[in-house]
Amino acid sequence: MEIFENGSHKIFLGDAIEVLESQIADSSIDLIFADPPYNIGKSFNGYKEKWQSDEEYLKWCYKWLDLCIKKLKPSGSFYVMTATQFMPFFDIYLRSRINILSRIVWFYDSSGVQAKKYYGSLYEPILFCVKDTENYTFNADDVLVEAKTGAKRKLIDYRKNPPQVYNSAKIPGNVWEFPRVRYRMKEYENHPTQKPITLLERIIKASSNENDLVLDPFSGTFTTSFVAKQLNRKSIGIELQDEYVKIGLRRLKIQEEFKGEKLEREIRTFEINKKQEVEPLTLFETSGAYIYSRDKANP
Ligand SMILES: C[S@@+](CC[C@H](N)C(=O)[O-])C[C@H]1O[C@@H](n2cnc3c(N)ncnc32)[C@H](O)[C@@H]1O
Repeated sequence: MEIFENGSHKIFLGDAIEVLESQIADSSIDLIFADPPYNIGKSFNGYKEKWQSDEEYLKWCYKWLDLCIKKLKPSGSFYVMTATQFMPFFDIYLRSRINILSRIVWFYDSSGVQAKKYYGSLYEPILFCVKDTENYTFNADDVLVEAKTGAKRKLIDYRKNPPQVYNSAKIPGNVWEFPRVRYRMKEYENHPTQKPITLLERIIKASSNENDLVLDPFSGTFTTSFVAKQLNRKSIGIELQDEYVKIGLRRLKIQEEFKGEKLEREIRTFEINKKQEVEPLTLFETSGAYIYSRDKANP
């Protein structure tokens, strides 16, 4: 296990269960967002996440779910994701251990290849839980969305006395539409299941306050910590893979190098092409012949 730290932001390179057990004080975290491997055979930097059986996967999940609950403050909130087929098990397991307030559907459209002989999956479930229903943070005003019905059509609500125009903003319901992170998006990192900044912004704004401590036990590209930093929260991120910790170190500006390697954002193919488009051709003379090149140092 290795620890990297810069002021209010800490990264653990190691196993989530081990770190939660040994490094995180009980009842110390305000908000946990957990987005584990889904047991669907994705490859995380060459490591295929597939357990021997569904039971084995769930047994592993129950361990860290218990730990997350233990590490939350009495006023803490917990958001947890998994594949649609495992969420019912999470739901039943968590029901007797914490209060589930919302069963959220993160919906996205997909222009990619879709299933041809069944209905393709266009959503991922998220549970929103709190330890104490009488004492938890919910900053409704910070996450308001446009109310599309009455207000947009400038309707008057005559049931009110006196009659009033409809509210133009409302608290989001439990179906959230945010685009998935695409290759050409500015926030894109090289990771198969990167979550969008917009999704984490809603969660962190609603369920924490400035200076609160936010923890993500399966950080991947460290979206949670990145957004927490932008919103002036403190963060703890845990991740098993060096490659992804490097992304976190860079995104959080904790350090510029990792084991002697300079941490730089990977250049995407369209960025290379774009560079070539703007770089003018220059005429060089080499060994008596004239050539055009964009590379001045090595024509
Ligand atoms: C679904 S991804 C998380 C993506 C992340 N939410 C983001 O926005 O990029 C799950 C991550 O958990 C990591 N992981 C898998 N097993 C782990 C373990 N035992 N401890 C810590 N991290 C683990 C994987 O390497 C992967 O990056």
